[in-house]
Amino acid sequence: MKIAFTGKGGSGKSTMAALFVGYLRQTGVRVLAVDADVNVHLAPLLGVVAHASAALSHPERTTAVRRHLLGTNKLIGGVDRFVATTPPGPGSRTVTLDAADPVLTAHAVALDERTHVMHVGTYEPENIGAGCYHGHLAILENLLSHLETREGDVVVCDMVAGTDAFANSLHAQFDAIVVVVEPTPESVTVARRYRELAEAAGVADLLLLVGNKVVDEVDVDYLRRELGSAPAAVLPSQAGLRRARQAGECPRPEDLEDVAPLRVIASLVKPVPAGRRAEALRALHLKVAEKDWVRSAHGDVTDQLAPVHK
Ligand SMILES: Nc1ncnc2c1ncn2[C@@H]1O[C@H](COP(=O)(O)OP(=O)(O)OP(=O)(O)O)[C@@H](O)[C@H]1O
Ligand SMILES: [Mg+2]
Repeated sequence: MKIAFTGKGGSGKSTMAALFVGYLRQTGVRVLAVDADVNVHLAPLLGVVAHASAALSHPERTTAVRRHLLGTNKLIGGVDRFVATTPPGPGSRTVTLDAADPVLTAHAVALDERTHVMHVGTYEPENIGAGCYHGHLAILENLLSHLETREGDVVVCDMVAGTDAFANSLHAQFDAIVVVVEPTPESVTVARRYRELAEAAGVADLLLLVGNKVVDEVDVDYLRRELGSAPAAVLPSQAGLRRARQAGECPRPEDLEDVAPLRVIASLVKPVPAGRRAEALRALHLKVAEKDWVRSAHGDVTDQLAPVHK
């Protein structure tokens, strides 16, 4: 299962993602945590030093991962013709959460046999004035579309603040999108906007609006009223978390008074049927293929789609 954590800047995306990873580790499932924010915060919150040279979007790593995914797939037409929405096809290699998976061993940090951490990366000095984070995220789109999880496996992605996932195919890659929302007008506005875009993109049923830094019942009522329904879960403001962070420590489920909100999130996520996801990603690929810059850089990439057998 693939779960994104998103929401307004500062709402607690990275904290909640880190706590969720900690919770999942205790349940014994295999976890891949992906720090997909331009401000790389999840990796450090999991105790991983995120070197620029180890980022997935580092050009050498991006090429190496694509070369691996390409396998013997003749439809793609070479590693240079990978676009963000290039789908797996006959001969493609997939990525699994096995500790021995070549992509994990080369590009992830292992916290233990079952838990791996990757980071997409950030702007580097050479990107100044000429960089776009969407370009960086393309390799994450490739990774997620070529990922083969087995039952129980969970991929946790900490996303860029706001509604960025709708500018690319990421919104269509997940089984659940957790929108972290504080009981403030600003945070609620971002959550509402996210819901509007999710409705337009056909993924509104995958949203889980989760309250964070809630202090009292008035806060819960505010969220219920402003969001139009009760949040799927609510994480109170936790002195234990603040103390841990002030002491320079990573947030852990043990810092919470109650892990029930994390358990609720885990229980609400259901896998998106493979057919639904494949159809959405095909449609997005065809849309991307029409773009002038894609045509001029890669030619016609519509032929990367394998024929659908009905
Ligand atoms: N439930 C909570 N109780 C207490 N402090 C919290 C809680 N949730 C988050 N925080 C604190 O709020 C701050 C912002 O959290 P965090 O960095 O996780 O937000 P974010 O949404 O990932 O921010 P950004 O948009 O910068 O990525 C951090 O100092 C974090 O420790
Ligand atoms: Mg963050």
